[in-house]
Amino acid sequence: MFDPKEFVEEAMHDLKGRIRAKAIIACSGGVDSTVAAVVVSRAIGESLLTVYVDTGLMRKGETESVRAMLSKLNVNFKIVDASQEFLTALEGVEDPEAKRKIIGEKFIRVFEREARGFGAKYLVQGTIAPDWIESGDNVRDTIKSHHNVGGLPAEMELELVEPLRDLYKDEIRKLARYLRVEVSERQPFPGPALAIRIIGPVTREGVEIVRDACAIVEEELEKAASEGRMELPWQYFAVLLPVRSVGVQGDNRAYGRTIAVRAVQSIDGMSAAYSKVPHDVLEAISVRITNEMKAKVNRVVYDITNKPPATIEWE
Ligand code: XMP
Repeated sequence: MFDPKEFVEEAMHDLKGRIRAKAIIACSGGVDSTVAAVVVSRAIGESLLTVYVDTGLMRKGETESVRAMLSKLNVNFKIVDASQEFLTALEGVEDPEAKRKIIGEKFIRVFEREARGFGAKYLVQGTIAPDWIESGDNVRDTIKSHHNVGGLPAEMELELVEPLRDLYKDEIRKLARYLRVEVSERQPFPGPALAIRIIGPVTREGVEIVRDACAIVEEELEKAASEGRMELPWQYFAVLLPVRSVGVQGDNRAYGRTIAVRAVQSIDGMSAAYSKVPHDVLEAISVRITNEMKAKVNRVVYDITNKPPATIEWE
């Protein structure tokens, strides 16, 4: 049985002994990296710099809410706007693995820059067990190289510290509740962010569409769950497909984009069942997306695949 108090005590003891200089951590605002930041910050205090990189690929309102959260958590933090750098690096890149590698490398480059400025010698990451199990490590074939593992450049200058490496998602959530990290009940969000929810090349317009669609999916499902009409899925989001299809808008023929809605139940992300979302809720999502993005999206589909054989994300 996982005991968060015991875990934190042991981790603090271990980290105090191990981290002998300044350290830097990437906090995406997600539960894993935020918990890792709080655990390490408890161990070494101001010697840890928590960096939030605005990649331009985050969810709606994310940067502002992360700023508010980090201010409250009493960690030493900095927000870096690198959005233009990421979009430029991803220009014209279609292949999911290439996207992950580019994003992983950019992340590390940005951190190295920040780390040099801060004088850090260690890079702390919120890697959890499913991240490295699915990234190979001789355990299984590589399914996806999660950005915080497969994307690491070999010549990285910082020493890696991964305090949550052996934990699964349900244990992270227990730990978050114990540490009173506000984000604890939030759904997981992948490191490569919205870039892997845009099938095909990442463009500024694509990011805007999928960001708005993700926000609508989140709002409608959270509303339905709070009204007791369904259970809140474990993870739920929108994916922008590279498919155009014919529709009607007023009296005219439209030729718009397609959004796929994904909602799953899972314990730890290793396997998942698609959520049986009530049809009226799906309809509300579809109506809102096609109304609010009239000129751009004219078709919404629902993904009814379990994991396996699919993965949760589309890339
Ligand atoms: P998949 O798509 O592999 O996702 O079934 C399982 C869980 O992991 C998240 N995910 C990632 N998380 N870096 C992360 O930190 C990544 O590169 C990454 N790829 C997927 C996904 O959102 C789901 O919760």
